[in-house]
Amino acid sequence: MKKIFAVILSISLIMGLAACAGKAEVPSKKDVQKEVEKEYDMDFKLDSKDIAEDGSEAEWVFISEDGTLEVTVTWSADDPDEFDFDDKKLDVTGPEPTETGPLPTDVVQYDGPMVGVSMPTKDLQRWNQDGDYIETELENLGYAVDLQYAANDIYTQVSQIENMVNSGCDVIIVAAIESSSVSEALDLAEQAGVTVIAYDRLIYESDAVDYYVTFDNYTLGLMQGEYIAAALGLESGAGPFNIEITTGDASDNNAMLFYQGAMDVLNPYIENGQLAVLSGQTAFEDVATTSWKTESAQSRAENIISAYYSNGEQIDAWLCSNDSTALGVENALAANYTGPYPIITGQDCDIANIKNMLDGKQAMSMFKDTRTLAYQAVVMADEILSGQVVEVNDTVTYDNGELVVPTYLVEPVMVDVNNYYEILIDSGYYTEYDLGL
Ligand code: BGC
Repeated sequence: MKKIFAVILSISLIMGLAACAGKAEVPSKKDVQKEVEKEYDMDFKLDSKDIAEDGSEAEWVFISEDGTLEVTVTWSADDPDEFDFDDKKLDVTGPEPTETGPLPTDVVQYDGPMVGVSMPTKDLQRWNQDGDYIETELENLGYAVDLQYAANDIYTQVSQIENMVNSGCDVIIVAAIESSSVSEALDLAEQAGVTVIAYDRLIYESDAVDYYVTFDNYTLGLMQGEYIAAALGLESGAGPFNIEITTGDASDNNAMLFYQGAMDVLNPYIENGQLAVLSGQTAFEDVATTSWKTESAQSRAENIISAYYSNGEQIDAWLCSNDSTALGVENALAANYTGPYPIITGQDCDIANIKNMLDGKQAMSMFKDTRTLAYQAVVMADEILSGQVVEVNDTVTYDNGELVVPTYLVEPVMVDVNNYYEILIDSGYYTEYDLGL
Protein backbone atom coordinates (compact mmCIF):
# COMPACT_ATOMS: atom_id res chain seq x y z
CA MET A 1 0.00 0.00 0.00
CA LYS A 2 1.38 3.44 -0.95
CA LYS A 3 1.29 6.34 1.48
CA ILE A 4 2.86 9.77 1.43
CA PHE A 5 3.86 11.42 4.68
CA ALA A 6 4.94 14.89 5.57
CA VAL A 7 7.28 14.28 8.46
CA ILE A 8 8.40 16.48 11.28
CA LEU A 9 12.05 17.00 10.56
CA SER A 10 14.42 15.81 13.24
CA ILE A 11 16.75 18.32 14.84
CA SER A 12 19.75 16.81 13.09
CA LEU A 13 18.05 17.09 9.76
CA ILE A 14 17.12 20.72 10.39
CA MET A 15 20.74 21.41 11.30
CA GLY A 16 21.86 19.59 8.19
CA LEU A 17 19.53 21.70 6.11
CA ALA A 18 20.71 24.91 7.68
CA ALA A 19 24.37 23.94 7.33
CA CYS A 20 23.98 23.37 3.64
CA ALA A 21 22.36 26.74 3.06
CA GLY A 22 19.28 25.51 1.24
CA LYS A 23 20.50 22.14 -0.04
CA ALA A 24 18.54 19.39 1.72
CA GLU A 25 20.65 16.60 3.20
CA VAL A 26 19.63 12.98 2.79
CA PRO A 27 17.95 12.00 6.08
CA SER A 28 19.88 9.53 8.23
CA LYS A 29 18.78 5.90 8.34
CA LYS A 30 17.99 6.39 12.04
CA ASP A 31 15.56 9.25 11.33
CA VAL A 32 13.84 7.34 8.55
CA GLN A 33 13.62 4.18 10.65
CA LYS A 34 12.03 6.20 13.48
CA GLU A 35 9.34 7.43 11.11
CA VAL A 36 8.64 3.93 9.80
CA GLU A 37 8.45 2.49 13.31
CA LYS A 38 6.16 5.29 14.44
CA GLU A 39 3.83 4.78 11.50
CA TYR A 40 3.60 0.99 11.65
CA ASP A 41 4.12 0.66 15.43
CA MET A 42 6.61 -2.17 14.93
CA ASP A 43 10.38 -2.60 15.13
CA PHE A 44 12.19 -2.61 11.79
CA LYS A 45 15.64 -3.46 10.43
CA LEU A 46 17.26 -1.89 7.41
CA ASP A 47 17.41 -4.32 4.49
CA SER A 48 18.99 -2.14 1.84
CA LYS A 49 19.59 1.47 1.01
CA ASP A 50 20.26 3.27 -2.25
CA ILE A 51 21.32 6.92 -2.34
CA ALA A 52 21.91 8.85 -5.56
CA GLU A 53 25.50 10.07 -5.83
CA ASP A 54 24.44 13.73 -5.87
CA GLY A 55 22.20 13.16 -2.82
CA SER A 56 19.07 14.18 -4.72
CA GLU A 57 17.14 10.93 -4.14
CA ALA A 58 17.21 8.03 -1.72
CA GLU A 59 15.42 4.78 -1.12
CA TRP A 60 15.49 2.55 1.96
CA VAL A 61 13.93 -0.86 2.35
CA PHE A 62 13.04 -1.89 5.91
CA ILE A 63 11.81 -5.27 7.08
CA SER A 64 9.90 -5.65 10.32
CA GLU A 65 11.74 -7.54 13.08
CA ASP A 66 9.13 -10.30 12.92
CA GLY A 67 9.71 -10.65 9.17
CA THR A 68 6.08 -10.01 8.19
CA LEU A 69 6.25 -6.61 6.51
CA GLU A 70 8.53 -4.87 4.03
CA VAL A 71 8.39 -1.09 3.77
CA THR A 72 10.11 0.84 0.97
CA VAL A 73 10.71 4.49 1.75
CA THR A 74 11.58 6.96 -1.00
CA TRP A 75 12.75 10.52 -0.56
CA SER A 76 13.64 13.34 -2.92
CA ALA A 77 15.56 16.55 -2.26
CA ASP A 78 12.85 18.40 -4.27
CA ASP A 79 10.39 17.67 -1.48
CA PRO A 80 12.67 17.07 1.47
CA ASP A 81 9.98 17.00 4.15
CA GLU A 82 8.00 14.20 2.53
CA PHE A 83 8.59 10.47 2.63
CA ASP A 84 6.81 8.06 0.33
CA PHE A 85 6.08 4.73 2.08
CA ASP A 86 5.18 1.59 0.16
CA ASP A 87 4.46 -1.50 2.23
CA LYS A 88 4.13 -5.13 1.29
CA LYS A 89 3.16 -8.13 3.45
CA LEU A 90 5.78 -10.88 3.45
CA ASP A 91 4.86 -14.51 3.37
CA VAL A 92 6.32 -15.97 6.55
CA THR A 93 5.70 -19.65 6.79
CA GLY A 94 7.35 -21.22 9.77
CA PRO A 95 6.58 -23.99 12.20
CA GLU A 96 3.47 -23.65 14.38
CA PRO A 97 4.02 -21.97 17.77
CA THR A 98 4.82 -24.42 20.53
CA GLU A 99 3.69 -24.14 24.12
CA THR A 100 7.24 -23.80 25.34
CA GLY A 101 8.74 -21.23 23.05
CA PRO A 102 8.07 -18.17 20.94
CA LEU A 103 6.96 -18.48 17.32
CA PRO A 104 10.07 -19.05 15.21
CA THR A 105 10.06 -16.90 12.09
CA ASP A 106 11.83 -17.40 8.80
CA VAL A 107 15.25 -15.84 8.69
CA VAL A 108 15.15 -12.72 6.53
CA GLN A 109 17.78 -12.89 3.79
CA TYR A 110 19.43 -9.59 2.95
CA ASP A 111 20.39 -8.62 -0.59
CA GLY A 112 23.38 -6.27 -0.47
CA PRO A 113 26.61 -6.65 1.51
CA MET A 114 25.85 -6.72 5.19
CA VAL A 115 28.01 -6.42 8.30
CA GLY A 116 27.07 -7.88 11.68
CA VAL A 117 28.32 -6.01 14.73
CA SER A 118 28.22 -7.90 18.02
CA MET A 119 28.86 -5.74 21.09
CA PRO A 120 29.03 -7.09 24.66
CA THR A 121 26.78 -4.73 26.61
CA LYS A 122 24.97 -1.41 26.63
CA ASP A 123 25.88 -0.93 30.31
CA LEU A 124 29.13 0.82 29.58
CA GLN A 125 29.24 4.12 27.77
CA ARG A 126 32.10 3.03 25.53
CA TRP A 127 30.39 0.06 23.83
CA ASN A 128 27.41 2.26 22.91
CA GLN A 129 29.80 4.70 21.27
CA ASP A 130 31.73 1.93 19.51
CA GLY A 131 28.50 0.42 18.17
CA ASP A 132 27.05 3.76 17.06
CA TYR A 133 30.21 4.87 15.26
CA ILE A 134 30.67 1.56 13.46
CA GLU A 135 27.01 1.46 12.40
CA THR A 136 26.98 5.03 11.14
CA GLU A 137 30.26 4.78 9.26
CA LEU A 138 29.35 1.48 7.60
CA GLU A 139 25.97 2.83 6.58
CA ASN A 140 27.63 5.91 5.14
CA LEU A 141 29.59 3.55 2.92
CA GLY A 142 26.32 1.96 1.81
CA TYR A 143 26.46 -1.28 3.82
CA ALA A 144 23.53 -2.70 5.73
CA VAL A 145 24.37 -3.23 9.40
CA ASP A 146 22.99 -5.63 11.97
CA LEU A 147 24.12 -4.17 15.33
CA GLN A 148 23.38 -6.26 18.43
CA TYR A 149 24.21 -5.90 22.12
CA ALA A 150 24.36 -9.07 24.23
CA ALA A 151 23.66 -7.76 27.78
CA ASN A 152 26.96 -9.35 28.91
CA ASP A 153 25.38 -12.77 28.44
CA ILE A 154 27.52 -15.22 26.50
CA TYR A 155 24.57 -17.35 25.30
CA THR A 156 22.86 -14.24 23.93
CA GLN A 157 26.04 -13.23 22.13
CA VAL A 158 26.49 -16.70 20.61
CA SER A 159 22.92 -16.78 19.34
CA GLN A 160 23.16 -13.24 17.98
CA ILE A 161 26.29 -14.20 16.01
CA GLU A 162 24.58 -17.35 14.70
CA ASN A 163 21.63 -15.23 13.55
CA MET A 164 24.01 -12.84 11.80
CA VAL A 165 25.53 -15.75 9.89
CA ASN A 166 22.10 -17.16 9.02
CA SER A 167 20.75 -13.83 7.87
CA GLY A 168 23.57 -13.44 5.35
CA CYS A 169 26.16 -11.15 6.95
CA ASP A 170 29.37 -11.13 4.93
CA VAL A 171 31.58 -9.73 7.67
CA ILE A 172 31.03 -9.93 11.44
CA ILE A 173 32.76 -7.62 13.90
CA VAL A 174 32.80 -9.09 17.42
CA ALA A 175 33.74 -7.59 20.77
CA ALA A 176 33.51 -10.86 22.68
CA ILE A 177 32.16 -11.05 26.21
CA GLU A 178 34.51 -13.93 26.96
CA SER A 179 37.77 -14.66 25.17
CA SER A 180 36.81 -18.16 24.03
CA SER A 181 33.06 -18.67 24.38
CA VAL A 182 32.12 -17.59 20.86
CA SER A 183 34.36 -20.06 19.03
CA GLU A 184 31.52 -22.45 18.08
CA ALA A 185 29.46 -19.64 16.58
CA LEU A 186 32.56 -18.59 14.68
CA ASP A 187 32.94 -22.11 13.24
CA LEU A 188 29.51 -21.59 11.71
CA ALA A 189 30.70 -18.26 10.32
CA GLU A 190 33.78 -19.87 8.86
CA GLN A 191 31.73 -22.58 7.15
CA ALA A 192 29.49 -19.91 5.64
CA GLY A 193 32.53 -17.99 4.35
CA VAL A 194 31.96 -15.03 6.66
CA THR A 195 35.03 -12.95 7.56
CA VAL A 196 35.41 -12.33 11.29
CA ILE A 197 37.06 -9.28 12.83
CA ALA A 198 37.77 -9.45 16.58
CA TYR A 199 37.15 -5.98 17.98
CA ASP A 200 39.06 -4.67 21.01
CA ARG A 201 39.12 -8.14 22.64
CA LEU A 202 41.02 -11.03 21.07
CA ILE A 203 39.00 -14.22 20.58
CA TYR A 204 40.89 -17.32 21.68
CA GLU A 205 40.95 -20.95 20.53
CA SER A 206 39.39 -20.29 17.14
CA ASP A 207 40.92 -20.44 13.69
CA ALA A 208 37.88 -18.58 12.34
CA VAL A 209 39.20 -15.20 13.50
CA ASP A 210 40.53 -13.44 10.42
CA TYR A 211 41.61 -10.07 11.81
CA TYR A 212 41.90 -8.17 15.07
CA VAL A 213 41.63 -4.40 15.67
CA THR A 214 42.60 -3.19 19.11
CA PHE A 215 44.38 -0.69 21.25
CA ASP A 216 47.73 -1.85 22.56
CA ASN A 217 46.40 -3.19 25.85
CA TYR A 218 49.65 -4.27 27.49
CA THR A 219 51.12 -0.81 26.83
CA LEU A 220 47.97 0.73 28.26
CA GLY A 221 48.52 -1.13 31.56
CA LEU A 222 52.19 -0.17 31.51
CA MET A 223 51.23 3.51 31.18
CA GLN A 224 48.86 3.23 34.15
CA GLY A 225 51.67 1.72 36.25
CA GLU A 226 54.13 4.37 35.08
CA TYR A 227 51.67 7.12 35.98
CA ILE A 228 51.47 5.88 39.57
CA ALA A 229 55.25 5.40 39.78
CA ALA A 230 55.87 8.96 38.55
CA ALA A 231 53.16 10.54 40.73
CA LEU A 232 54.60 8.93 43.87
CA GLY A 233 58.22 9.55 42.88
CA LEU A 234 59.03 5.85 43.14
CA GLU A 235 61.92 6.05 40.72
CA SER A 236 63.73 8.42 43.06
CA GLY A 237 63.23 6.03 45.97
CA ALA A 238 60.23 7.68 47.69
CA GLY A 239 57.99 5.59 49.95
CA PRO A 240 56.78 3.51 51.54
CA PHE A 241 53.26 4.07 50.17
CA ASN A 242 50.08 2.03 50.36
CA ILE A 243 48.47 0.83 47.16
CA GLU A 244 45.46 -1.38 46.30
CA ILE A 245 44.65 -2.99 42.98
CA THR A 246 41.39 -3.56 41.06
CA THR A 247 41.29 -5.08 37.61
CA GLY A 248 38.61 -6.38 35.23
CA ASP A 249 36.77 -9.56 34.34
CA ALA A 250 39.03 -12.61 34.52
CA SER A 251 37.52 -14.10 31.36
CA ASP A 252 38.31 -10.98 29.30
CA ASN A 253 41.82 -11.43 27.93
CA ASN A 254 42.33 -7.67 28.00
CA ALA A 255 42.01 -7.60 31.78
CA MET A 256 45.09 -9.81 32.07
CA LEU A 257 47.04 -7.61 29.64
CA PHE A 258 46.17 -4.40 31.51
CA TYR A 259 47.12 -6.06 34.80
CA GLN A 260 50.40 -7.49 33.44
CA GLY A 261 51.46 -4.16 31.95
CA ALA A 262 50.80 -2.25 35.17
CA MET A 263 52.26 -4.91 37.47
CA ASP A 264 55.46 -5.11 35.40
CA VAL A 265 56.04 -1.51 36.53
CA LEU A 266 54.71 -1.80 40.11
CA ASN A 267 55.95 -5.26 41.18
CA PRO A 268 59.61 -4.26 41.67
CA TYR A 269 58.44 -1.50 44.07
CA ILE A 270 56.17 -3.94 45.93
CA GLU A 271 59.10 -6.34 46.23
CA ASN A 272 61.54 -3.70 47.54
CA GLY A 273 58.99 -2.32 50.04
CA GLN A 274 58.38 1.12 48.46
CA LEU A 275 54.81 -0.02 47.89
CA ALA A 276 52.75 -1.97 50.43
CA VAL A 277 49.44 -3.69 49.63
CA LEU A 278 47.84 -3.91 53.09
CA SER A 279 45.03 -6.19 51.88
CA GLY A 280 47.67 -8.60 50.56
CA GLN A 281 45.52 -8.93 47.41
CA THR A 282 47.82 -8.76 44.40
CA ALA A 283 47.18 -11.98 42.45
CA PHE A 284 45.12 -11.51 39.28
CA GLU A 285 42.25 -13.71 40.47
CA ASP A 286 42.05 -11.78 43.79
CA VAL A 287 41.86 -8.36 42.18
CA ALA A 288 39.55 -9.27 39.25
CA THR A 289 36.03 -7.78 38.96
CA THR A 290 33.22 -9.90 37.49
CA SER A 291 31.83 -8.31 34.31
CA TRP A 292 33.82 -5.15 35.14
CA LYS A 293 30.84 -4.10 37.29
CA THR A 294 31.03 -0.84 39.22
CA GLU A 295 28.95 -2.37 42.04
CA SER A 296 31.30 -5.36 42.44
CA ALA A 297 34.39 -3.15 42.44
CA GLN A 298 32.66 -0.93 45.00
CA SER A 299 31.76 -3.72 47.43
CA ARG A 300 35.26 -5.21 47.30
CA ALA A 301 36.75 -1.73 47.89
CA GLU A 302 34.38 -1.18 50.83
CA ASN A 303 35.57 -4.44 52.41
CA ILE A 304 39.22 -3.49 51.91
CA ILE A 305 38.72 0.02 53.32
CA SER A 306 36.90 -1.20 56.42
CA ALA A 307 39.34 -4.07 57.07
CA TYR A 308 42.66 -2.28 56.45
CA TYR A 309 42.18 1.47 56.28
CA SER A 310 39.64 2.37 58.96
CA ASN A 311 42.32 3.11 61.58
CA GLY A 312 43.71 6.19 59.85
CA GLU A 313 46.02 4.35 57.46
CA GLN A 314 46.27 6.32 54.22
CA ILE A 315 45.69 4.82 50.75
CA ASP A 316 48.16 6.51 48.43
CA ALA A 317 47.30 4.86 45.14
CA TRP A 318 44.63 2.56 43.74
CA LEU A 319 45.38 0.94 40.42
CA CYS A 320 42.07 0.52 38.60
CA SER A 321 42.17 -1.00 35.15
CA ASN A 322 39.20 0.91 33.76
CA ASP A 323 36.68 3.62 34.54
CA SER A 324 33.75 1.42 35.58
CA THR A 325 35.88 -0.20 38.28
CA ALA A 326 37.48 3.15 39.22
CA LEU A 327 33.99 4.55 39.74
CA GLY A 328 33.22 1.70 42.17
CA VAL A 329 36.39 2.44 44.14
CA GLU A 330 35.61 6.18 44.14
CA ASN A 331 32.08 5.51 45.43
CA ALA A 332 33.48 3.31 48.20
CA LEU A 333 36.02 5.98 49.18
CA ALA A 334 33.38 8.71 49.19
CA ALA A 335 31.24 6.70 51.59
CA ASN A 336 33.86 5.13 53.86
CA TYR A 337 37.21 6.91 53.77
CA THR A 338 38.24 10.24 55.19
CA GLY A 339 41.89 10.55 54.10
CA PRO A 340 43.09 12.38 50.99
CA TYR A 341 42.06 10.77 47.70
CA PRO A 342 44.59 8.25 46.44
CA ILE A 343 46.00 8.42 42.91
CA ILE A 344 43.40 6.45 40.97
CA THR A 345 43.90 5.25 37.40
CA GLY A 346 41.26 4.33 34.83
CA GLN A 347 40.57 3.90 31.13
CA ASP A 348 37.89 4.84 28.62
CA CYS A 349 37.46 8.50 29.70
CA ASP A 350 33.83 7.92 30.64
CA ILE A 351 31.94 11.12 31.41
CA ALA A 352 31.36 10.29 35.10
CA ASN A 353 35.07 9.64 35.55
CA ILE A 354 36.22 12.80 33.80
CA LYS A 355 33.86 14.73 36.06
CA ASN A 356 35.44 12.97 39.05
CA MET A 357 38.87 13.81 37.64
CA LEU A 358 37.91 17.49 37.55
CA ASP A 359 36.74 17.15 41.18
CA GLY A 360 40.14 15.69 42.17
CA LYS A 361 38.81 12.18 42.75
CA GLN A 362 40.51 10.36 39.86
CA ALA A 363 44.02 11.10 38.65
CA MET A 364 43.97 9.82 35.09
CA SER A 365 42.18 7.75 32.51
CA MET A 366 43.59 6.09 29.43
CA PHE A 367 41.80 7.47 26.38
CA LYS A 368 40.88 4.93 23.76
CA ASP A 369 39.24 7.07 21.12
CA THR A 370 36.37 4.82 20.07
CA ARG A 371 36.12 6.83 16.85
CA THR A 372 39.62 5.71 15.87
CA LEU A 373 39.06 2.06 16.67
CA ALA A 374 35.61 2.01 15.10
CA TYR A 375 36.99 3.76 12.02
CA GLN A 376 39.73 1.14 11.73
CA ALA A 377 37.21 -1.70 11.97
CA VAL A 378 35.09 -0.04 9.29
CA VAL A 379 38.11 0.43 7.01
CA MET A 380 38.92 -3.25 7.46
CA ALA A 381 35.35 -4.37 6.73
CA ASP A 382 35.29 -2.16 3.64
CA GLU A 383 38.65 -3.50 2.44
CA ILE A 384 37.36 -7.06 2.86
CA LEU A 385 34.04 -6.41 1.13
CA SER A 386 35.59 -4.55 -1.78
CA GLY A 387 38.33 -7.15 -2.29
CA GLN A 388 41.23 -4.85 -1.37
CA VAL A 389 44.35 -5.80 0.57
CA VAL A 390 43.54 -5.56 4.28
CA GLU A 391 45.98 -3.28 6.07
CA VAL A 392 47.44 -4.54 9.37
CA ASN A 393 50.44 -3.37 11.40
CA ASP A 394 51.18 -6.39 13.63
CA THR A 395 51.53 -9.93 12.38
CA VAL A 396 53.52 -11.46 15.23
CA THR A 397 52.02 -10.66 18.64
CA TYR A 398 48.42 -11.87 18.84
CA ASP A 399 48.53 -15.64 18.99
CA ASN A 400 45.06 -16.87 19.93
CA GLY A 401 46.10 -20.49 20.49
CA GLU A 402 45.17 -21.49 16.93
CA LEU A 403 46.88 -18.84 14.80
CA VAL A 404 48.65 -15.51 14.98
CA VAL A 405 45.83 -13.13 14.13
CA PRO A 406 46.79 -10.27 11.75
CA THR A 407 46.15 -7.14 13.79
CA TYR A 408 45.74 -3.41 13.42
CA LEU A 409 47.02 -1.77 16.62
CA VAL A 410 46.01 1.71 17.75
CA GLU A 411 47.87 3.61 20.49
CA PRO A 412 46.02 4.74 23.63
CA VAL A 413 46.60 8.23 25.06
CA MET A 414 46.95 9.23 28.72
CA VAL A 415 44.47 11.87 29.90
CA ASP A 416 44.60 13.84 33.14
CA VAL A 417 43.55 17.33 34.28
CA ASN A 418 46.40 18.89 32.34
CA ASN A 419 45.46 17.69 28.87
CA TYR A 420 41.79 16.61 29.06
CA TYR A 421 40.53 19.78 27.37
CA GLU A 422 42.76 19.40 24.34
CA ILE A 423 42.30 15.63 23.98
CA LEU A 424 38.61 15.31 24.78
CA ILE A 425 36.99 18.65 23.98
CA ASP A 426 39.17 20.22 21.28
CA SER A 427 39.03 16.91 19.41
CA GLY A 428 35.22 16.99 19.49
CA TYR A 429 34.89 13.77 21.50
CA TYR A 430 32.93 15.61 24.20
CA THR A 431 31.45 19.07 24.48
CA GLU A 432 31.93 21.28 27.53
CA TYR A 433 28.24 20.66 28.22
CA ASP A 434 28.80 16.85 28.31
CA LEU A 435 31.35 17.35 31.07
CA GLY A 436 29.20 19.84 32.98
CA LEU A 437 31.60 22.73 32.33
C1 BGC B 1 37.90 -2.93 27.23
C2 BGC B 1 37.79 -1.71 28.12
C3 BGC B 1 36.48 -1.76 28.90
C4 BGC B 1 36.30 -3.11 29.57
C5 BGC B 1 34.92 -3.24 30.20
C6 BGC B 1 37.75 -4.17 28.07
O1 BGC B 1 37.89 -5.32 27.29
O2 BGC B 1 39.15 -2.94 26.57
O3 BGC B 1 37.85 -0.55 27.34
O4 BGC B 1 36.48 -0.76 29.88
O5 BGC B 1 36.45 -4.15 28.65
O6 BGC B 1 33.93 -3.28 29.25
